[in-house]
Amino acid sequence: MADIKDYIAKNKDRFLSELVDLLKIPSISADSNYKDDMLKTAEAVKKKLLEAGCDSAEICETPGHPVVYGEKIFDKDLPTVLVYGHYDVQPPDPLDLWDSPPFEPVIKESEIHPEGAIYARGACDDKGQMFMHVKALEYMTQNDKLPCNVKFMIEGEEEVGSEHLGWFIERNKEKLANDVILISDTGMIAKDTPSITTGLRGLSYMEVEVTGPNRDLHSGLYGGAVANPINILSELIASLTDENNHITIPGFYDKVEELSKEERKKMAEAPYDEEAYKEKIDIGDVHGEAGYSTLERASIRPTLDVNGMWGGYIGEGAKTVLPAKAYAKISMRLVPNQDWEEISQLFKKHLESIAPKSVKVEVTPHHGGYPYVTPIDTIGYRAASKAYEDTFGKTPIPQRSGGSIPIVSLFEQELKSKIILMGFGFDTDAIHSPNEHFGVWNYLKGIETIPGFYKHFTEMSK
Ligand code: BES
Ligand code: MN
Ligand code: MN
Repeated sequence: MADIKDYIAKNKDRFLSELVDLLKIPSISADSNYKDDMLKTAEAVKKKLLEAGCDSAEICETPGHPVVYGEKIFDKDLPTVLVYGHYDVQPPDPLDLWDSPPFEPVIKESEIHPEGAIYARGACDDKGQMFMHVKALEYMTQNDKLPCNVKFMIEGEEEVGSEHLGWFIERNKEKLANDVILISDTGMIAKDTPSITTGLRGLSYMEVEVTGPNRDLHSGLYGGAVANPINILSELIASLTDENNHITIPGFYDKVEELSKEERKKMAEAPYDEEAYKEKIDIGDVHGEAGYSTLERASIRPTLDVNGMWGGYIGEGAKTVLPAKAYAKISMRLVPNQDWEEISQLFKKHLESIAPKSVKVEVTPHHGGYPYVTPIDTIGYRAASKAYEDTFGKTPIPQRSGGSIPIVSLFEQELKSKIILMGFGFDTDAIHSPNEHFGVWNYLKGIETIPGFYKHFTEMSK
């Protein structure tokens, strides 16, 4: 019977090449041109689950992209771990900023990843991290080390808001019944500083359309006398934050949970170097809500950001035009107790109320999701903590993340179990950006650490 370290050493090349194969399929959920590739990826994941030791695996249709489900159940009296992950990826644009094509994975060394990193869209978010669980299962089944039951639910719509996952969960509550949900779709602080994510922000995503005149106008003949929708939209957006970078939407902060002084003090103990932070992303200074640190701004405080804005002439050269339309996509990251549907309504009402008569403003909510925080005194958290201690020789730091996995709070609500977020990516892995990558070290360390969770969770559940 092989020890996990030996098993990894022996199978490392195959673990990498299998992941590379999965990364070659462009499973872009947002783009309907890739529907066939989505299915192809789902088929590949199903096959891998069966190869890794699942007794059964299937592709479950939903009104959107399918969910891949697999399980290995051998004793109903033993605990059941449900692993969640997603096989869909973000669109790779802008393509010209990639050093190598997004769906032709290459392994390259970098300063942060001296053992090499796999460069491809989805390498870290989330194919690489999801696949660590498949390989950990393979190790456990092949070496008689799986101490409990396991179920996998790998979805294809996370990057577009998990629109149909609620539908799927509602119809499959029994099938998905579990004692704990395990997810690797977040990050960790650094190689020598393991961390467990204890919180995620919620999200409210809006689209704004501003309409001025009924056609594009000559900006000389009409300019100055007719409202320019792009100018107006810029003013509206600028007014959404004040001089302290506080969001001005009435009622926005009403339900925001304020952290106690002690909790904030504890947060400030996490290792963090502001100069290095600025240097890595090449900015002159940080920017954010007055009265909060950078770590707080990016985790326990809500935000409002324009994700994209367009309208008018953007072609080559200059065209003098007063455009008829302007658009923006705006997202708000939310923190505990904020309700995304309520925030979406507050945003819509506010924007419509401040719009001048000279234009029409239409606000359409897109997807959203609730924030999540998990306590650290549960069996699940303690089992994860012990698993990291075994492989890192250090107790992991609990850390709230600024990102969102909208389905997580729904899991807790519908399946009544706790969610454990064991992420192995680094913030610098460029998820959603050109040149996304996942460290070979991180990938293998994840495979090494995961079986410990099963072991400790089963032991602690007795
Ligand atoms: N895996 C990320 C979320 C994440 C990354 C959380 C790193 C914490 C640390 C997930 O795939 C993602 O990108 N979520 C989206 C929301 C979704 C509705 C598109 C996000 O956070 O923007
Ligand atoms: Mn993800
Ligand atoms: Mn993502």
